[in-house]
Amino acid sequence: MATQQVALCGVRDQFPVFGQTLPNGQPVTFLDTAASAQKPICVIEAEESVQKSHYANAYRGVYEFGAQIDEELEATREAIRKLIGAVDASEIVFTSGSTMSINMIAFGWGGRHLQEGDEIVLNEMEHHANLVPWQQVAERTGAKIVYIPLTEDGQLDLLAFDELVNERTRVLSVTGMSNVLGTINPVRRLADRVHEAGGIVVVDGAQSVPHAPVDVQADGIDFLVFSGHKLYGPTGVGVLYGRKDLLAEMDALLFGGHMIERVTKSGSTWAGAPAKFEAGTLPIVQAIALKSAIDFVNELGFEAIHEQESRLTRYAMDALTQVPGLKIYGPRLEDRGAIVSFTIDGAHPEDLAQLLNRKGVFVRHGHHCTMPLHDLLTVSSTVRASFGVYNTTEDVDQLVAAIEFARQRLRLA
Ligand SMILES: Cc1ncc(COP(=O)(O)O)c(C=O)c1O
Repeated sequence: MATQQVALCGVRDQFPVFGQTLPNGQPVTFLDTAASAQKPICVIEAEESVQKSHYANAYRGVYEFGAQIDEELEATREAIRKLIGAVDASEIVFTSGSTMSINMIAFGWGGRHLQEGDEIVLNEMEHHANLVPWQQVAERTGAKIVYIPLTEDGQLDLLAFDELVNERTRVLSVTGMSNVLGTINPVRRLADRVHEAGGIVVVDGAQSVPHAPVDVQADGIDFLVFSGHKLYGPTGVGVLYGRKDLLAEMDALLFGGHMIERVTKSGSTWAGAPAKFEAGTLPIVQAIALKSAIDFVNELGFEAIHEQESRLTRYAMDALTQVPGLKIYGPRLEDRGAIVSFTIDGAHPEDLAQLLNRKGVFVRHGHHCTMPLHDLLTVSSTVRASFGVYNTTEDVDQLVAAIEFARQRLRLA
């Protein structure tokens, strides 16, 4: 297949991981960015620089290192505020990742506000991280979960959604982008309806924030979560954005150092957000290096990122459609992000993933933490290729060639 220029070529050179050849002589074809993104050199160096030159605990010491760490952490908080269009940096809470953030919202806000008869609106394309915490809170509070049906091509059925939202709706929690189907959800459209009914809107931005601009105010988002490691940043750090008034009326899940206002032998009072939700020692180094990741994507610009990823996704969908017996799940290109999940008749996804690995092509297989979605698709497992800013059309060509190799090995060709 003829290769095409990509808008962000040159970016790949900033990722040291691609400068190697695998032990089997193959180059690295990394197509698992939806699980976790590779790291640019600026992020790796930012971590190293903190550790080497001025590491200290945060929000504790007045000495030089401590003050510098505090300043750098606040610089990351401010960079996140700008990235997502929040009003105030105090609305940005550092967490360990999207899963932790959603649990904090479900238990901290939902645990306090939900009661019997209330409804939580979810849908079957959600990651387990945005299903299980709500199921647990529903069990404890007596609230009921209702599901927006999906259309044949894996989008939210908006007409059914309009019917389903009512005065009992307290929360809509929805992914910005499906980690399997690639579906991009119309957050503003959903938020308008839920707000009209008096509910709040939680957006799981784990997949959407790294790929497209988000503006919590313009998009009508009350809570937003995402993970640093999917945004080319370090593992162990994530974000919980909450509207100021909502954070004020949300309970903390973790109690201990730093989150207090006053502690006596008989009881304690809490600091305001964000400290109230940041008990203990933060992932200091990772949170500071997250700013380098944000600077990196801002420098590329989300317009260029989206354009390049769309082009790559189109190229991949066109190529994969030619493979006999291959079925792609999810909507057409215009309604999806840079994720393509598929099955091939007669090939188990695990066998496929293992055979692709022999050609240096790294894809994920399985249910991708979306068992209800796979139940709906009536498959137990799919293969997922997901793209990042470093991928090129050559990577897609490698994928297609590796699939051909797998088909021959499995005697499908
Ligand atoms: C849509 C979605 N939500 C939540 C998560 C959980 O993210 P983390 O494991 O960083 O907490 C993921 C991770 O794959 C995801 O794809």
